[in-house]
Amino acid sequence: MAVPPLTASLSDAVAAALATAGVPEVAPRIRRSQHADFQADGVLASAGAVRRDPRALAAEVAAALPTGDRLAAASVAGPGFVNLDLTDGALLDQLAARLADPRLGVGTPESGVTTVVDYSQPNVAKEMHVGHLRSTIIGDALVRTLEHLGGDVIRRNHLGDWGTQFGMLVQQLVEHPEPAAPSMSRLLELYRAARVRFESDPAFADRARRRVVALQSGDRATVAAWREMVDESERYFTEVYDRLGVRLTPADAVGESAYNDALPGIADELERTGVAVTSDGALCVFTDFTSTPLIVRKSDGGYGYAATDLAALRQRVGELHADRLLYVVDARQSLHFRLLFAAATRAGWLPATVSATHVAFGTVLGNDGRPFQTRSGDTVRLIDLLTDAVDRARTVVAAKNPDLTGAALDERARAVGIGAVKYADLATGRTRDYVYDPDRMLALTGDTGVYLQYAHARIRSILARAGSARPQVAPGVPVHPAERALILDLDAFAETLADVVATYEPHRLCAYLHRLAQTFTTFYDQCPVLRAEGPTRTNRLALCHLTGDTLHTGLSLLGIEAPDQL
Ligand code: ARG
Repeated sequence: MAVPPLTASLSDAVAAALATAGVPEVAPRIRRSQHADFQADGVLASAGAVRRDPRALAAEVAAALPTGDRLAAASVAGPGFVNLDLTDGALLDQLAARLADPRLGVGTPESGVTTVVDYSQPNVAKEMHVGHLRSTIIGDALVRTLEHLGGDVIRRNHLGDWGTQFGMLVQQLVEHPEPAAPSMSRLLELYRAARVRFESDPAFADRARRRVVALQSGDRATVAAWREMVDESERYFTEVYDRLGVRLTPADAVGESAYNDALPGIADELERTGVAVTSDGALCVFTDFTSTPLIVRKSDGGYGYAATDLAALRQRVGELHADRLLYVVDARQSLHFRLLFAAATRAGWLPATVSATHVAFGTVLGNDGRPFQTRSGDTVRLIDLLTDAVDRARTVVAAKNPDLTGAALDERARAVGIGAVKYADLATGRTRDYVYDPDRMLALTGDTGVYLQYAHARIRSILARAGSARPQVAPGVPVHPAERALILDLDAFAETLADVVATYEPHRLCAYLHRLAQTFTTFYDQCPVLRAEGPTRTNRLALCHLTGDTLHTGLSLLGIEAPDQL
């Protein structure tokens, strides 16, 4: 078992003191404070419940807290808070425990919990856009964090590989055969041509509709042509994933088509149980929160996006035994997910023991404040966007390291450029819109990935110069205020990860790492490390080690590389 964080031990101690003061069974919240190491605010809340004067109760609690080896002081603050200060010894013990634990105090609270994460979800024969980039990056960070906390994670790339548009595409391909299997860029042209014809030529539109029926009923030639498009698109998506360094492989792709055979059964069951009713020829689920129904089957008999999601949900709960379902999807689809969860709950496919969350995210905007697009109004190709970020990063890295050339420069430019794109995305509150600004995301100072990568590399270089292996923390050495702040920040790593999982908000980890890097900078300014001597030097090197490891692990959970040198 990992040594618990200081906040947890303090919470236990304050709970015991509260019990002594006659208020049992509360778990007081312990927070960092400006006026002491920590502050407990639970007393105030409990006092109301038991009709006691908060300040008097806080005084009783403070008096009941045993000071000594670990707790240096406990005192009443404000209307009924308790300020808590730890001894230097307690802080050094905590530092030693963290340093000895390769998991940095992070337990495995997710062990035994199965989470299915639906993310990335690009559409076949279409360019991936920045919305898919957000889903991919946020999903990847959540997957990594859940796995790090010991959870079982099933990745689901819910590819848009099904639907009426494929009738139109296959028909275009049949009528204008390609000399070879079409490449991704060719597919995009084909898509455009097919759409134009579909809208201008009613006879073609008719043939395209018949083609959809052929596809859905498994006609060999139609399915083969469709398969080719899916394969080519998947090759392209894999290229983007490799470039991004995200944990998605073709094995994680279970597209909408995979649920085709289950759709009639879904509709039948919903109709039989009365969850869905026919309205204007369509099979619909109505709810009490909106007049918009969830359309299970369209009036022409076809199944759409909603039916597929119902089938996927039922399978994820029923066959994959998920405890938690996450859908990392654009906030603009929030009504769809509310309807989906409501329908699935009524159908009995989503029991109360399983949580389902639409992990919604905001829109990526261009400099003009409008959704991010090329000047001609097209989707920006993701691969171009990433190439551009890496090119810009190369300039930044080369300026810092004039000696770096060739493959080594390319490698670092990649780590920095991709890290910058990911960090800029993840550091923004998930549901907020943000402006895609490549110059800002590559700034060496400020809240950027590069800043954190440099902070980490600087620590590695300090350690390389010190030349020592991992030091043993020396007890009995006075702790400088800047060291104190750093120990307290380092100790909050596990809680931060728990917070990310409780809220599905990776920006909390970004903010934590950014603050940690700043606290380290203050420490390094105020406390010489390499020039220090004896046990003081030892303990400062220990702090450097632990900060370097925490930054490295934290960045890796965001999917960001932290090379030793930049
Ligand atoms: N492919 C869809 C799109 O590009 C997103 C799919 C989201 N996932 C889901 N299970 N509905 O908008």
